[in-house]
Amino acid sequence: MNRTIKNCCSRLLPSALAVLISLFPPLLLSSCGGEPEAADTLRVGVSLYAQDDTFISSVVQNLERTAQEAEAEAGLKINLSIVDGRSNQTTQLEQVDRFLARGYGVLCVNIVDRTAAAVVIDKAQAAGVPLIFFNRQPVDEDIQRGDQIYYVGVNAQGNGALQGELVLEAWQENQAELDRNGDGVLQYAMLEGEPGHQDALLRTEYSVKTLTDAGVKVEKIASDTANWNRGQASARVSLWIQQGLCDQIEVIFSNNDDMALGAIDALKAAGADFLPLIVGVDATAPALESIAAGELYGTVLNDADGMAQAMVDLSLALWAGEDPADVVELEDEHYVWLPYREVTQENLSEFMTS
Ligand code: GAL
Ligand code: CA
Repeated sequence: MNRTIKNCCSRLLPSALAVLISLFPPLLLSSCGGEPEAADTLRVGVSLYAQDDTFISSVVQNLERTAQEAEAEAGLKINLSIVDGRSNQTTQLEQVDRFLARGYGVLCVNIVDRTAAAVVIDKAQAAGVPLIFFNRQPVDEDIQRGDQIYYVGVNAQGNGALQGELVLEAWQENQAELDRNGDGVLQYAMLEGEPGHQDALLRTEYSVKTLTDAGVKVEKIASDTANWNRGQASARVSLWIQQGLCDQIEVIFSNNDDMALGAIDALKAAGADFLPLIVGVDATAPALESIAAGELYGTVLNDADGMAQAMVDLSLALWAGEDPADVVELEDEHYVWLPYREVTQENLSEFMTS
């Protein structure tokens, strides 16, 4: 996939262009012998870990919209080239090489395998190109290796804890209904994202920890990994149903919305006469619809819009040689942390766009 957003600069008068050029210093940027970058065009290379991931595709939609808005505001052309790493680190490294060879001004990398971040950093640094990692967080040691390296994302521990908070509140408000077997213990199941992914590990840990820290007794009935994927989650939960486990499960924690929806698919397909309380993370459009329909209990916003906005703002500032701290809130000079929020039927209208 390679998209070029149409520019509005071609319509500008030559004198207006001259002003623009003086405002944006990186004239005729050229790196690694690639084609020179025109003064009024910022080329951003974006490599995704997997384009078919629901949350990532909503980041892409937001990136395209945000870049278009920024073009209109800044009066320049932003050429976003978005490529799919197809969950293959070798493919993604080749994409990075190609962007750099073609003289792209900024790289945004949703890294397939976080342990490969150092290789990407070496390549970008050798070419003198700023690098923004997003959504899949490299280790801090890598991020701190240079001043042109950034991470834009959501704190996984925080949104895991908030998911636990959703369940804790439901338990405190309505224990009689939630504690179906009346034993005072919350029986739960966990659907985990990709093994080794920070968001999966930390959400799994901190969702439950919020309850145990608050003194709620919990018992794990089932747990499995479904790689962020709706179909895989549905298959796992079908197995739990066959094993008779679902009758005991009072709450299903899912590391993301797609897997939570997969659980609902399986339960409905099996003709379940009741759904346990199910919570996800992301606030994707299908998840919001499911909350509206009273199936998914709640989710935690993983801010795709804020992520895209921060990436575009950072890209523009870095390309123009401005201080990124002027356009985004930076922590430890390298991190942009996006806020997260609970979403349930109570505040759903704030998140539904139509
Ligand atoms: C998580 C998100 C998942 C999946 C994953 C990919 O933050 O909740 O749905 O998109 O990132 O890295
Ligand atoms: Ca119970």
